[in-house]
Amino acid sequence: MSSVASPQRVLSGMRPTGRLHLGHYHGVLKNWVTLQHEYDCYFFVADWHALTTHYDDPSQLEASTMDMVVDWLAAGVNPKAATLFVQSAMPEHAELHLLLSMMTPLGWLERVPTYKDQQEKLKEKDLATYGFLGYPLLQAADILLYRAGLVPVGADQVSHVELTREVARRFNHLFGREPGFEQAVEAAVVKMGKKAAKVYIDLRKRYQETGDAAALETAQALVRDQQNITLGDKERLLGSIEGSGKIILPEPQALLTPAAKMPGLDGQKMSKSYGNTIALREAPDDVDAKIRKMPTDPARIRRTDAGNPDVCPVWQLHEVYSDEQRKQWVQEGCRSAGIGCLECKKPVIDAINAELVPMRQRGREFEQAPDMLRSVLAEGAERARETAANTLADVRQALGLAYRR
Ligand code: TRP
Ligand code: SF4
Repeated sequence: MSSVASPQRVLSGMRPTGRLHLGHYHGVLKNWVTLQHEYDCYFFVADWHALTTHYDDPSQLEASTMDMVVDWLAAGVNPKAATLFVQSAMPEHAELHLLLSMMTPLGWLERVPTYKDQQEKLKEKDLATYGFLGYPLLQAADILLYRAGLVPVGADQVSHVELTREVARRFNHLFGREPGFEQAVEAAVVKMGKKAAKVYIDLRKRYQETGDAAALETAQALVRDQQNITLGDKERLLGSIEGSGKIILPEPQALLTPAAKMPGLDGQKMSKSYGNTIALREAPDDVDAKIRKMPTDPARIRRTDAGNPDVCPVWQLHEVYSDEQRKQWVQEGCRSAGIGCLECKKPVIDAINAELVPMRQRGREFEQAPDMLRSVLAEGAERARETAANTLADVRQALGLAYRR
């Protein structure tokens, strides 16, 4: 199916968990920092999503949101390159969620694997709520509101992107045929200008008569490259090539973030719930103290006992931070008792502290200027609102709600 699903638009959200750690950096944020230079990125704090599971204690919501955004900025997410905002500042998400809920079959939501999984996992909470069932549909609204083409997520979220695609498909199927579609297409063709219009019509004919895939692709590229026509008209032109209706909500793709390999201080995956983290803006002395306290190969009781890196969590950190030469130094030194554990830990401490230097610096700047932080989020919301308004206008129109404006 064709679409103007700006393949160049990326959207992702994160629930506000407060201060982030190196696991978040190596797992998610580093990826965002790269993506922001290659795509039109929208990153937002999913604070309503947090309420679906933590509605009984909203007291930390604001602080967690702000701390997390400071960490995004500290990690190098750049508000000049990416659009950053807080979900609850955008009631547009709620409106789209509501409208999509009208046509989303209950069974689709009940079958999303995270629904039952999370209820099992968070047994102490009553998650038999309307809001929690709607969690993935709210996420679909987050994505579709910006017509995002790519959604960077972890494996646990892929089913939510899949639901989003189904919801979009159903919406387009139900409402993609606007009244007067053919006339609107013709008017749009004229707007392309004589030369492009002729090429478009020829290619469309070739595709429709012979199924020529190359003609389809060329025609789609031609439409996408048009500078002087609106997004709505582009959608009509694209829809018309394939003889379908207008694609109001393009289907996004999940951009799978590889599972984070970041080990924690105890060798398990770094996670707040294991208490084995190093925070993004951890003070140098604390990094030092935490690494020094790390357990090593339990067989190395004395300095003269040989060790085995395979059973030592410090080695896992070398795998993240050390080059081949240093890894060899660890392997040989450990197995021959040639180096002591503190000696072995020293380069890890230095590498982590070096990595954190710019993060502490940037974090401090934003922490000391809460106004600057607020204006980053306000500007982000303003930019997001422009994009959201276009989508919502089309959705309202499709649902017969345009009259109230
Ligand atoms: N549910 C996601 C998570 O828990 C967060 C999220 C909310 C999200 N809305 C989104 C992610 C939209 C990607 C796109 O990680
Ligand atoms: Fe672990 Fe290094 Fe000590 Fe070997 S020398 S046990 S790898 S800390």
